[in-house]
Amino acid sequence: MTSQQTEIEPAASEASTFSPRPGTAPGIAAGLAAPDITGQGQLVTSLKRSQQATPHRFRDLLALDDFERHARRRLPPMIFQYVAGAVETGTSLRRARAAYDDYALLPRMLRDVSGRDQSVQLFGRTYASPFGIPPLGGAAFIGYRADLVLAEAARQANIPMILSASSLIRLEDVHAQNRDAWFQAYLAGDQARIDRLVDRVAAAGYGTLVVTADTPMLGNREHNIRSGFSMPIRVTPKVAWQAATHPRWLLGVVAQTFLRHGAPHFENTEAERGPPMMSQQSVRNTVARDQLSWRHVQAIRQRWNGRLLIKGLLAPADAHMAREYGADGIILSNHGGRQLDHTVAPLHVLPEIAARKGAMKVIIDSGIRRGTDVIKAIALGADFVLVGRPLLYAAALGGVAGAQHAIRLLQQEIDRDLALIGARRITDLEPGMLRHVAQGGRQHAASEQE
Ligand SMILES: Cc1cc2nc3c(=O)[nH]c(=O)nc-3n(C[C@H](O)[C@H](O)[C@H](O)COP(=O)(O)O)c2cc1C
Repeated sequence: MTSQQTEIEPAASEASTFSPRPGTAPGIAAGLAAPDITGQGQLVTSLKRSQQATPHRFRDLLALDDFERHARRRLPPMIFQYVAGAVETGTSLRRARAAYDDYALLPRMLRDVSGRDQSVQLFGRTYASPFGIPPLGGAAFIGYRADLVLAEAARQANIPMILSASSLIRLEDVHAQNRDAWFQAYLAGDQARIDRLVDRVAAAGYGTLVVTADTPMLGNREHNIRSGFSMPIRVTPKVAWQAATHPRWLLGVVAQTFLRHGAPHFENTEAERGPPMMSQQSVRNTVARDQLSWRHVQAIRQRWNGRLLIKGLLAPADAHMAREYGADGIILSNHGGRQLDHTVAPLHVLPEIAARKGAMKVIIDSGIRRGTDVIKAIALGADFVLVGRPLLYAAALGGVAGAQHAIRLLQQEIDRDLALIGARRITDLEPGMLRHVAQGGRQHAASEQE
């Protein structure tokens, strides 16, 4: 019996049994010659560190949820809450997560699951795993140069990463770090402004544009007010105290950023550079976002030659509209519970939407934390999934090495879960491997349920 087959083998060595197929993730397989990023010494150091095996300091980070516990200690409450928080009662956040508990797995046995392969085909590319990194606004204020960190970790792992419209690093710089990065836009219903931004994104070399549709207004983020977070950041006594008592964040993120790169600006909300995020006159250009409509999507489709995705849809009728308007994909999402409260869980509308998706790809996010979550989403018809907060915590805690560690943990879980459920490939997953176990314990075949 090999160590891979031994039930009592320590978790660490069992975990190390997954390695990406040669050729699918050259960064992980072969290590990385750290690119020299002028003026980003800390990122380069972080890249060098990432070539080593799992660092000792990550030894008790065994699952994606563990990153949140560590981040809570490392980050000032206002910064932690900005990431972790959800709107109003938190029902959207909880429901998105709880939906995964509504399905139980029905594994198949004795199927020879050796030679497992979790790579997937998406938009003409082979990715090493069925998950990627969604847009995470303000990331570089959570972890030092975090957009570049996530772009680099994704590049090495051969998974997609989506740069947020609300990022603090120029989209051109992120594309230089990772030529496969996707760009997400928050758009106002103003065609001239949209056209200029779309042209900038195209000129930078991006091949995939994601338009977020669920933000005509910002959600009611009371948690930010309670914790002291505001935009622009106002240095109140409460904020100053939080910063002073979290020196690793203050020195490692804020001081390093200001010293090396100057005051951070919203770089990518519009075609032109936005104002500094700390300035009192900094009001991000959210004007007229509530005027965005399908006619703008239609115009973007005509202007943009790359792949077009619409993010933040939940209604099957909207998914159908996206397909009609020529979207290459949609991202089913309730924004991680950060926009409208009390929405339906994305997972609960997935089967209905997947059944009518045609050639359009269906990606899902919000609340995905485990390999089993990924397997459930794919079995119910998703082509791909995104994992948000844990990857941002990982980048903040450990730079590229931290993000890589989180990516590897999820890859290892998926690999193990594929074996245990009786599947060799992602395409082997199907609804018959799930049972819907609604509250009250009634069981139905998932395919009959939805
Ligand atoms: C800190 C933070 C910032 C975010 N910024 C954006 C953004 O700029 N654009 C966007 O479309 N979604 C944004 N989202 C939503 C994510 O893209 C994604 O839908 C969500 O985080 C997925 O849920 P999860 O964090 O539970 O995995 C943000 C989420 C977080 C946590």
